[in-house]
Amino acid sequence: MLYVDNLSLFYDLHLALDNISIEIKEGETVVILGANGAGKSSLLKAISGVEPISGNASLIFEERRLNDIPTNERVGLGLSLVPEGRGLFPDLSVEENLRLGANPKRARQFEARNREFVFDLFPKLASRSKQLVGTMSGGEQQMVAVGRAIMSAPRLLMLDEPSLGLAPIVVLELFAALSEVRAAGVSMLIVEQNVKESLAISDRGYLMETGHIVEQGMAEELRNNTLIQKTYLGST
Ligand SMILES: Nc1ncnc2c1ncn2[C@@H]1O[C@H](COP(=O)(O)OP(=O)(O)OP(=O)(O)O)[C@@H](O)[C@H]1O
Ligand SMILES: [Mg+2]
Repeated sequence: MLYVDNLSLFYDLHLALDNISIEIKEGETVVILGANGAGKSSLLKAISGVEPISGNASLIFEERRLNDIPTNERVGLGLSLVPEGRGLFPDLSVEENLRLGANPKRARQFEARNREFVFDLFPKLASRSKQLVGTMSGGEQQMVAVGRAIMSAPRLLMLDEPSLGLAPIVVLELFAALSEVRAAGVSMLIVEQNVKESLAISDRGYLMETGHIVEQGMAEELRNNTLIQKTYLGST
């Protein structure tokens, strides 16, 4: 459903993504692993259209070339990003943030169904619907961020380090919710440093280092990969 080929991204003279190629098939959950500064966020920004990419890149989503399509229209096509830092409106309520998620034309017809799904995933949001998002805990805000993305009726949901800064128990709750999103048939591209939990809900993954893909494989293969075990899973 998503083909990325030959993707390079420069910040001035700094090459942050060097000729990246990845693919996500319909219904797959794919994780991007890598150390700080590897280019993981840059990759999601390039796919969502937040950062401009080199001209020879090929970015194809459901048979449509994305290169010249602006970010908001990509969301309208079903490509939704939960960014690093969540990008919520702190002075608006939970309900208002969720409603903004349902703004794309394609999403409006599914608004009631999607809100029900969000409240199924995160029952807390139903009872807190009037609370201003800026007054919520980090874990609650991440629920709103994921909820808002679901309100946009994503075909491919991209998440940039959703578990960052959350307590271990909240991380487990979040991954349980993402696992339900996966079971509902939404394709996902997840950037994570939480290697064990993210591989557990993924079909496949890629490992990035300084703007390159250095390993790729099925989740099971990556779990047993010595480089990943040594660097990320703390085994010797
Ligand atoms: N707006 C920017 N201007 C200049 N350089 C940038 C910009 N954004 C990112 N970079 C650089 O590009 C490289 C990749 O950054 P990126 O944020 O994609 O990494 P990351 O893998 O998401 O790291 P982290 O795990 O810390 O979030 C880094 O060297 C970073 O300093
Ligand atoms: Mg990042």
